[in-house]
Order: sequence, then structure tokens, then C-alpha cells
Amino acid sequence: MKAVIPAAGIGTRLRPHTLNKPKALLPVAGRPILAHIVDDLADAGIDGFVLIVGYHGEAVREWFSAQRPDLDITYVEQTERLGLGHAVWTAREAVGNEPFFCILGDTILKADYPSLLACPDNMIGVRQVEDPRRFGVVIKDGEAVKGFVEKPEVPPSNLAIVGAYMFRDGGALFDALGRLVADDRRTRGEYQLTDGLQTMLEEGKVFRTVEVTEWYDCGKRETWLETNRVLLDRDAAEAGASFIHPSARVTDSRLGPHVSLGPDTVVEHCDLRNLVIGAGSVLRHCRLDESLIGEHCHLDGIEGSLNVGDHCELTAKEQG
Ligand code: UTP
Repeated sequence: MKAVIPAAGIGTRLRPHTLNKPKALLPVAGRPILAHIVDDLADAGIDGFVLIVGYHGEAVREWFSAQRPDLDITYVEQTERLGLGHAVWTAREAVGNEPFFCILGDTILKADYPSLLACPDNMIGVRQVEDPRRFGVVIKDGEAVKGFVEKPEVPPSNLAIVGAYMFRDGGALFDALGRLVADDRRTRGEYQLTDGLQTMLEEGKVFRTVEVTEWYDCGKRETWLETNRVLLDRDAAEAGASFIHPSARVTDSRLGPHVSLGPDTVVEHCDLRNLVIGAGSVLRHCRLDESLIGEHCHLDGIEGSLNVGDHCELTAKEQG
């Protein structure tokens, strides 16, 4: 079965890190976000990937052709960012009439993927959240799904759509999305996937929900760091683990908990906690916590919490 992964977005909430690269390639626990998603799905038996790319899409192609040439990946270009419904619709020819799985390119789930993929019905991954107003929301009556609504001001339920879907009626979804585009039916300026789902429901298609308890969205600064923490701990024997790339050079420093050091980083005389540092960055005499540092930065004598993109140079002024 194929998996469709929309990853064409601009990632404005993660600027400056997304000014020169796609969100999907930002590192978390030693690998790009998208690599975690693809690896989990390949382990669960997905044998073909359709990656919807757009903003800095060439970087996604380059990363996967260099690092994962073994995977069967079709790239589809979403030339205009017209919304998630539009992004999924661009995959129609690559997928055809087959059932397919769909997951957002910035969402890592720890789910029982084999049983999700075996689900005989259309399936929507959901999670109970306190404030569902910034999510797509599912309306249910008992076990039956009765409706979908995008970012409701007055939420009809607290079941948020997590961004993972199994489409048994893939052709019906593409038809529904195609009609939204043909009729120019947008919600908040975009073609919404939830509007396509609602159309399918109205046409009599049946959906089930599956509760996903471990859901790591990497779309904001805090959730990126939180996901880094959780994934580092999950892969380690004990809590507080760090990832240090084999090519990183660390001298006379205290690292952890939850530090991710990318390739060719240099860390000297530092105390670092809860942070992600991109490839080739050099840190000397820094004391940092809760920080996101891009690639090829040079930091000397900096203390506190930083959020800096690639190629930044910061040196503390000498006192006295
Ligand atoms: P988001 O709504 O998080 O948008 O998209 P974004 O551009 O990634 O980030 P912000 O809101 O500007 O910070 C959720 C997922 O849907 C994809 C994104 O790449 C992301 O994986 N997407 C969204 C598309 O592929 N195309 C679109 O037109 C919109």
C-alpha cells in the first residue's frame, strides 16, 4: 500500500529555521522529521511513498535520493500552497483508485501502524484535546462519525484530527477534493481536507475513528523541542538521553538532558540542555537550555535560551 505525505508547506511558525529549508527536513533526535515518519511506515509494510513537495522541495528529493535510495518514492509538486485538501488532491494520479494511507509531513505518531493499515474502513486518527479550536474536529454519535469541521470557534466535540488517515475509498476522496477545487470552495482561503471528508460522508461513505495517544506535532518551536525529548527517550534505555552524531567533536562539556548534536558540530567548554543543534555549528563557552540552533552557526560565550537559524554568528562582549 502507498502512503501520501503532504510536505509542501512553508512552515512559517518555525522561522527562521524554515527560511531556507522545508520543515520536513528539520532534525529531531538525529534524523529529519520526515525520515522518522517514512521509516516507521516502511517498518509497518508501506511499500511506496508519494511525497507532496513544494517549498524547497528539491532539498527533500536530494535528501532521500542520497540517504534512502532503497525507498520507492514518487514526488508530486504542489506548485501553489492552496491548502491540505489541494495538496492531497495533487496525488490523485500517483495513487490511482487504490486505498492509501495519508499522514502529514510534520506529524510523528507512535501508533500500532500494522493494525491501522489493516483497518477495513476509512479511518481517521483522532485525539481528545482540551482546546480543539485550532484543529479539524470530528463529530460523532456513539461510534458513528457524523461530521467534520475545520478549526471551529465553538467546537462540537473535543476529538481533534491528528493528521493520519486511512482511505479505503481513495477514488471518492479525490473526486470530492476535485469538486472543491472545480467549484472554488475554500474555507479560510484554502481547500481543506476536512471539507473533502465531509463531502464523502454526505455521499454515504463510512468513517471510523482510531484514538492515537502518542502524537508529536513538530510544527512549532515548543513542540519541536518536546518531540526531540520524547523520541530521544524512546530510543534509549533511560530518560534524559542525548543524540551525538559520530562526527561531532565534544570537549570539556556537560551535555544533557535531551541534546541533539548534528554532523560535524563542535562543542567546547559548554553546558547544554534540551536543544537541537544543526550540522557544522560551533559552540564555545556557551550555557544554553531550551534552544534551537541552525546549521553552521558560530556561538561564543552565549547564555540562556536561543532560537537562531543557519549561519548566525553570536559572540558575547568581553566584560571589563
Ligand atoms: P501546516 O498547516 O502546518 O502548514 O501544514 P505549514 O506551511 O507546514 O506550517 P505553518 O502553518 O506555515 O507554520 C500541515 C502539513 O500539510 C502540508 C505541510 O507541509 C504540513 O506537512 N501542507 C499544507 C501542504 O503540503 N500543502 C499545503 O498547501 C498546506
